[in-house]
Amino acid sequence: MDNTIQIIEKPEWVSWDDISAVLWQAHGSNREEGMNMKHASFSGEEIKEHLEPSGKMFVALLDNKLVGVAAYQPKKVSFWFGEELFAYCCFAAVLPQYTGKGIYGQLVRIREDSARSQGIDKMMFNTHPRNSRVIQIAQQFGYKKVDFRAGRENPWVFMVKWLNGMPYSESKINIMYAKKKLQLQIKNTIKQVLKKGGR
Ligand SMILES: CC(C)(COP(=O)(O)OP(=O)(O)OC[C@H]1O[C@@H](n2cnc3c(N)ncnc32)[C@H](O)[C@@H]1OP(=O)(O)O)[C@@H](O)C(=O)NCCC(=O)NCCS
Repeated sequence: MDNTIQIIEKPEWVSWDDISAVLWQAHGSNREEGMNMKHASFSGEEIKEHLEPSGKMFVALLDNKLVGVAAYQPKKVSFWFGEELFAYCCFAAVLPQYTGKGIYGQLVRIREDSARSQGIDKMMFNTHPRNSRVIQIAQQFGYKKVDFRAGRENPWVFMVKWLNGMPYSESKINIMYAKKKLQLQIKNTIKQVLKKGGR
């Protein structure tokens, strides 16, 4: 064993089921903390289908053992700054025994380089608001919290990175994010009050 990490686009011999297994295992601590993210329980086939037709999956291999995964797909999404094309990042995970070694950082880099080579200059992902680890790491890499949206079971924090420089000031981004978060909180409070009143 020579401890060589390889970060490459998914080769044929790495199966979608292997990728599903890494996601499931890596999300174990999130599940324990009540953060159930549906992508983490996708089967190999579901992951493959989700990324079709133009998504890309990258893998981290340590001496040919799969230890990390990260993907993106080009997608148009609307935010307060308009509808734009993003590399929508998903299926990101590193096996617990291999975290804290910069593997995710390398996966983030290859994903950004690949998006750039496809002419995409904005990266985006969403996560559970309590997934502070990935939020803090993403912030270190230049991702900004831009939106806070309702999901079926929990709200989602949306983060964006402008690869060619952020076109808005830091304060504008922070104010818009705070506004979106507050709007959702008010909406949820009103819903709860109406629900209680209806009893
Ligand atoms: C989030 C996750 C992918 C991070 O993987 P990782 O390989 O440990 O991350 P890295 O080691 O590349 O860390 C990246 C950087 O953040 C730093 N960092 C690590 N943990 C940190 C923390 N808790 N807070 C702030 N920074 C941290 C690292 O020092 C590193 O900085 P460096 O490149 O300057 O050394 C991994 O913990 C995981 O799989 N979590 C469960 C699945 C998950 O939540 N996925 C995201 C779904 S949206």
